Amino acid sequence: MTRRKLPETGRAEDEVLADLQAFGARDPDYRAGRTWSLVYHLDDAHDDFTAAAWRMYSSANGLNPAAFSSLKRMESEIVSMLADLLHGPEECCGVLTAGGTESCLLAVKTYRDMARKRRGVKRPNMVIPVTAHVAWFKAAEYFGVKPRLLPMTPDHATDISRLARRIDRNTVMILGSAPEYPHGTIDPIARMAAVAARRGVPMHVDACVGGLILPFMEMNGADLPEWDFRVPGVTSISADLHKYGYAAKGASTILYRDLDLLKHQMFVHQDWPGGVFASAALLGTRPGGAYAAAWAVMQKLGVDGYRELAARTTRAVEALKAGIAGIDGLRVLGRPQGPLLAWGSDDPRLSIFAVADQLEARGWAVNRVQNPDGIHAMVTARHAEVVAEYLRDLEEAVAVVRANPDLARTGHAATYGMMAHVPLRGMVKERILDMFASMYRAGGGTLELDAQEGERPLLERWMARYVAWRARRG
Ligand SMILES: Cc1ncc(COP(=O)(O)O)c(C=O)c1O
Repeated sequence: MTRRKLPETGRAEDEVLADLQAFGARDPDYRAGRTWSLVYHLDDAHDDFTAAAWRMYSSANGLNPAAFSSLKRMESEIVSMLADLLHGPEECCGVLTAGGTESCLLAVKTYRDMARKRRGVKRPNMVIPVTAHVAWFKAAEYFGVKPRLLPMTPDHATDISRLARRIDRNTVMILGSAPEYPHGTIDPIARMAAVAARRGVPMHVDACVGGLILPFMEMNGADLPEWDFRVPGVTSISADLHKYGYAAKGASTILYRDLDLLKHQMFVHQDWPGGVFASAALLGTRPGGAYAAAWAVMQKLGVDGYRELAARTTRAVEALKAGIAGIDGLRVLGRPQGPLLAWGSDDPRLSIFAVADQLEARGWAVNRVQNPDGIHAMVTARHAEVVAEYLRDLEEAVAVVRANPDLARTGHAATYGMMAHVPLRGMVKERILDMFASMYRAGGGTLELDAQEGERPLLERWMARYVAWRARRG
């Protein structure tokens, strides 16, 4: 492994920038709309605008809200615009965070601390759907709050029939998503919140995906259930600006119904030799550029801009659903109502992961889901322009896999298939941990760097080891 050293002498700026440009050569081609997750890209002009806003405040730090009044103003205005959009009451309040995960982590910390302070809860649990974003499981682990899972119905919705029974005196919060990540289903928020309110337990809605698109879909006439602060019993909502808000990366929000709730999120250390310290969210230094870009994009787009983007997204989603329904062997999983969906195979001879490999071979970046297996898409306005081409490739991919069923035993299809179906989940976890940790060796861990060292890609190595292990066990 070659460890890269800091250059002895500094390099010319244009040379350095050219290197950065070249690094991206094998990244997903999101500019052409070929990426169905991770990126919410409109066009280069929009990127230039957000970059210009970012640049203005790239050195500014939101750590101390009293220092940069510009940033505090942006944060307050963003929170205020969102409180309005999500029908927050007069006392509604909130904080800008660096992303959906930070917002989710904060909700768990807030409600754990609140239950500890108000009710003396020492062994906290929270009731969350099995489809809750993985950030909630991360929060559970980080903050020592045991997740009590609500299972799925056969239709991939959250089964709330046992919700009331899952709540006990140690339950610190209940979670619903609008929509959930794996299938794009909006949880039955009103019914969940009614149970939460009856039992005196706070309820958070994870609208990291939906927060900046569902309201505009509703304004455009979509028949959606209510899920925001209009629902009594909903005490907080997370909504990401760097997803369907089309802001630059590093911007999400968490909103609370009132300050008494938000106070439990905050951290104050009055005796620190470094000075009296108070912080509203997880991070210390908070990137001013992200605040500025998010504020600027919200101003630039306005309600009519977001409505137009939501309309384009809806057209792409509808086209995708219709196209999938028209391909023999494929079916949409559950009843997605927002901008994202997943589809699987209802034909045991058709491996959906092999179909995913075929799509990748045709230049699409696809995401896979499991239990049940499927292909996932976070559809954006940009996809309206490529959905027809995508569906043609999907149809072709299905035909190729049908004609070559052995494809299920090669490529990523084999790896993911195996990982999903190995009964020893503890072993899968350990292997993934090994593999993942090794990606963080100094100087290694990317396909290019490993290839330079003559190493096989990590997944391939893991699979080879797994196959050998299976063979040894007979
Ligand atoms: C429902 C939901 N919540 C939370 C998150 C986490 O967001 P982030 O990736 O910005 O941390 C995601 C990400 O896709 C999500 O879909």
